[in-house]
Amino acid sequence: MTRQFFVGGNFKMNPTSREAKKALIKVLNEATLDPNTEVVIAPPSLYLIPVLEQVRKEVKVAAQNCYFKPNGAFTGELSPAQLKDAGVPYVVLGHSERRSLFHEDSALVAQKTRAAIDTGLSVILCVGETLQERESGKTQAVVEEQLKAFIDISKPEDWSKIVIAYEPVWAIGTGKVATPAQAQETHALTRAFLATAVSKEVAESVRIIYGGSVTASNSKELSNQPDIDGFLVGGASLKPEFVDIINAKKA
Ligand code: PGA
Repeated sequence: MTRQFFVGGNFKMNPTSREAKKALIKVLNEATLDPNTEVVIAPPSLYLIPVLEQVRKEVKVAAQNCYFKPNGAFTGELSPAQLKDAGVPYVVLGHSERRSLFHEDSALVAQKTRAAIDTGLSVILCVGETLQERESGKTQAVVEEQLKAFIDISKPEDWSKIVIAYEPVWAIGTGKVATPAQAQETHALTRAFLATAVSKEVAESVRIIYGGSVTASNSKELSNQPDIDGFLVGGASLKPEFVDIINAKKA
C-alpha cells in the first residue's frame, strides 16, 4: 500500500496583510512542486476565498477550524456547509492551539470531525501530547484517547477522508523538533492502535503526518521514516523553504 505524501501549511493567524498573503501564494505558484505530493494550505478564514482564487489548482485549501452545526446563531463560527459551498475541500480540526487556548476537548473535536465528513469535507485531525505527558510516559495513551473519541462515532468509509497529524505540543513553534526516531515510534504505535481499534486496512492506508518545528533541513530525514507520510508545517509554511519541505520526498 503506497500512501501519497502529504504536506500541509498551517498559516495560523498569519500573515497580517493581504499583500503578504499574495506574496506567499506567489512563491507557491512559481515554484516547482513535486507532483506526487498532496499539498494543502490553511490560511486564516478571511483569506480562504481569495486564496482559492489565487493559488494554482494543484494546491488545495483548508480551513483551520469549523463548527459542527450547519448554520444558525453561533457568532464567530464557520460551518462545514459554508466551507463546502465555498469550494474549500479540507478543514484542520483538533489543533493543539484549539485544544489548549480555546478549550476544545476530544469529544467536541470528534463531533466536528463527524459533521465535516458528513458534509463532504476532508479532515486533518490533529493529536499530540504535552511535554509533561511525554515525560510521564503517557504519549501513547493521550494520542489514543484523542483518536478514540472519533473512532467511537466513525464509519469505515470515513477514513479515506482523514489525515491524522501527530503534533507533539512541546515541538509546536518551539524549534524543538521530535527526532526521526521519536516521531517514527509514535506513528508506528498509532498505526498499530488503528489496526486493532478500526481495521488493518485503515491502519495501512491512513496517512499519519508529523507536525512540530518542521523545517527544510529536518524534513528530509523525517520523510524517510516508514510511518511518516508527510508534514503539517506552521512557521516554515510562511517562508520560501516551505517549497523544499513539499519536495522533501523527492530531494
Ligand atoms: P510549527 O507549527 O511548524 O510552527 O511548529 C506546526 C503546527 O502547529 O501545525
